[in-house]
Amino acid sequence: MISFVGKKGLVLGIANQRSIAHGVAAELSKLGAELALTYAPDPKGRFERFIRKSAEELGATHVLPLDVSDDSQLEACFAALDEAWDGMDFVVHSVAFADRAELELAFTETTRKGWDLAMGISAYSLIPIARESARLMRKNGGGSIVGMTFIGSVLAVPNYHVMGPAKAALEAIIRGLARELGPENIRCNAVSAGALRTLSSSGISQFAEMMKVAGEHAALQRNVTVEEVAQATAFLLSGAASGITGQSIYVDGGFNIMAN
Ligand SMILES: NC(=O)c1ccc[n+]([C@@H]2O[C@H](COP(=O)([O-])OP(=O)(O)OC[C@H]3O[C@@H](n4cnc5c(N)ncnc54)[C@H](O)[C@@H]3O)[C@@H](O)[C@H]2O)c1
Repeated sequence: MISFVGKKGLVLGIANQRSIAHGVAAELSKLGAELALTYAPDPKGRFERFIRKSAEELGATHVLPLDVSDDSQLEACFAALDEAWDGMDFVVHSVAFADRAELELAFTETTRKGWDLAMGISAYSLIPIARESARLMRKNGGGSIVGMTFIGSVLAVPNYHVMGPAKAALEAIIRGLARELGPENIRCNAVSAGALRTLSSSGISQFAEMMKVAGEHAALQRNVTVEEVAQATAFLLSGAASGITGQSIYVDGGFNIMAN
């Protein structure tokens, strides 16, 4: 039985009830973890309201603003956690963004601005987050980091466009982090989730059709649930996965292994 009693960690990427990060936070809370949650500040404060409510439900002790493209927010977030916790055990990076208009164009029409935006938020952001997290994890003698990826990193998924290279970069970053932080007992892995209906995926054209096909063609002949992705994430974050680092673990009902 995995337990997070006495463990502290940060979950980034809750937007609403459907967010993978929400499922992960719920699972970690159930297993006894003490959580800090972040929200991406928006002018109407929608995310903040939802996350404050979730924090109460999940017993999360800290709620912090964090736009991952803003270095000063990043610095402030980790300074607050360092002061409050003086050490940390895990981090979940469940953040991605691409301009919806870009995703509606042909892949060859991807703009430099759209590329920089998607890469910066969805991939690069894990580097400074891992660096800051590692400072706190060292105080606890190690830690575990998990990022969320998708099979579009290795297959040309229709309409996934710039997010494909962003996920390939995220997986390469995870391997680089695993190599560099491994000697300090800090592990870094990715969960490659099957298609799930969320706010982010609603920005991908014909996503519902893609999800239907993925369910039909998976080895398990169904789509996965957020709970299944959350359980695998908790496993990778836990001591039960102490020998696993630098991996992308598919939680997609076996879709990735099927020839057709
Ligand atoms: N839904 C799927 O089918 C699927 C499959 C595989 C992987 N993923 C990945 O899972 C992760 C979570 O996505 P989701 O499907 O739960 O959707 P979601 O929209 O609920 O979560 C994405 C999160 O990214 C946050 N975000 C965007 N820009 C940000 C910024 N600048 N700073 C901080 N946060 C920012 C949003 O606020 C949101 O909370 C993403 O990395 C996504 O690519 C999703």
